[in-house]
Amino acid sequence: MNLNHAIETLVVGYGYWGPNIVRNVSERPEFSLAGLCERDGGRIEDFRRKHPGVRVWRDFDGALTDDRVEAVAIATPPHTHHDLVGRALRAGKHVLVEKPLARSAGEAAELVALADDVGKVLMPGHTFLYSPSVNKVKSLVDEGELGEIYFVTSSRMNLGLYQQDGVVLDLAPHDLSILLHWLDKPLVEATASGRSVFRDGVHETAFLTLGFEDGAQANVQLSWLAPRKMRQMIVVGSRKMVQYEDTAADDSVRVYDRGLDFSEPPANFGEYRLTYRTGDMIAPQVEAAEPLGLELRDFASAILEGTTPVSNSRLGLEVVLGLQALEQSLRERGRPIPVRQVDEVLSGGRRERQLAA
Ligand SMILES: NC(=O)c1ccc[n+]([C@@H]2O[C@H](COP(=O)([O-])OP(=O)(O)OC[C@H]3O[C@@H](n4cnc5c(N)ncnc54)[C@H](O)[C@@H]3O)[C@@H](O)[C@H]2O)c1
Repeated sequence: MNLNHAIETLVVGYGYWGPNIVRNVSERPEFSLAGLCERDGGRIEDFRRKHPGVRVWRDFDGALTDDRVEAVAIATPPHTHHDLVGRALRAGKHVLVEKPLARSAGEAAELVALADDVGKVLMPGHTFLYSPSVNKVKSLVDEGELGEIYFVTSSRMNLGLYQQDGVVLDLAPHDLSILLHWLDKPLVEATASGRSVFRDGVHETAFLTLGFEDGAQANVQLSWLAPRKMRQMIVVGSRKMVQYEDTAADDSVRVYDRGLDFSEPPANFGEYRLTYRTGDMIAPQVEAAEPLGLELRDFASAILEGTTPVSNSRLGLEVVLGLQALEQSLRERGRPIPVRQVDEVLSGGRRERQLAA
């Protein structure tokens, strides 16, 4: 990568997640912090204390007119993404936008097409795709170490920060992006049920069932109402099983040589013989690296070298299509919803634009 050129980057939003992006943009050699765009006075003060002399804008369009700004990293709430990303791309900037890419599949597809039209990088920030532990599991799946993947279970719970969009929009992008990355198969069906305790329609807890092409299934429990933080995923394959934990106390990948086999084809009906495998457990070494730093490195490489990021805009759209189906299923009290496919949505959008032109 050409490190003689640091990409001048504007960060938008300095709430919970924005400071992490600001820190990485300031510290990484591929980037230079051009400034911050934020509306909240208190947060601007906080930023100024930590980054004296760095430019601050309250008005996004004003910031975009600065020709030095080459890239924009957006860490504002999901309902603002479509508008802010669209304006940044039209102003000729490369964009990294926090998950989810947009609130609806139509909006997400429009942004993917716009980025193609203007020839700029559009990258959704699915940070877990850069987690060394997630990628350790990915390599076990890709190398066939686990055999055929039967199913995945996931528990993503804590006493979480209450947000108006509900727990599915907050946490499901993580599971959807990780599962699409591991299984490398389209999501075809999504089912969700949940509970809103405090406000109608804002679910604090949700239970998801996700069906992938070729039969793999995932069951995901999401909650902001839990006594302790739990971030656990278990992948059950025909050869081995993996348990991946992602909390401060336990950040590990454990591979179990365990399973259940039919010993041989039965001679007669009713003669199935099962054998249990209870072999060793190994915990492979996982590199220690901050996922957000690796995500920014991938963004820089897409801008400077034209590579396709691991967290790319098609995957961002696929996640939004999954979220949309889950939200519909939640509204319809757990009816299984077929998930629309990326190519179909992108070509439908293209046809509509041609008709409108
Ligand atoms: N990748 C991850 O692991 C991760 C973790 C947390 C949050 N996120 C994502 O980050 C995004 C932000 O979440 P958060 O929890 O930091 O939200 P937040 O509400 O804490 O902060 C958002 C900030 O954006 C500012 N803002 C809103 N609209 C703006 C505008 N038009 N112009 C300038 N500033 C504006 C607000 O004043 C606020 O300071 C969300 O998309 C969320 O899903 C990602």
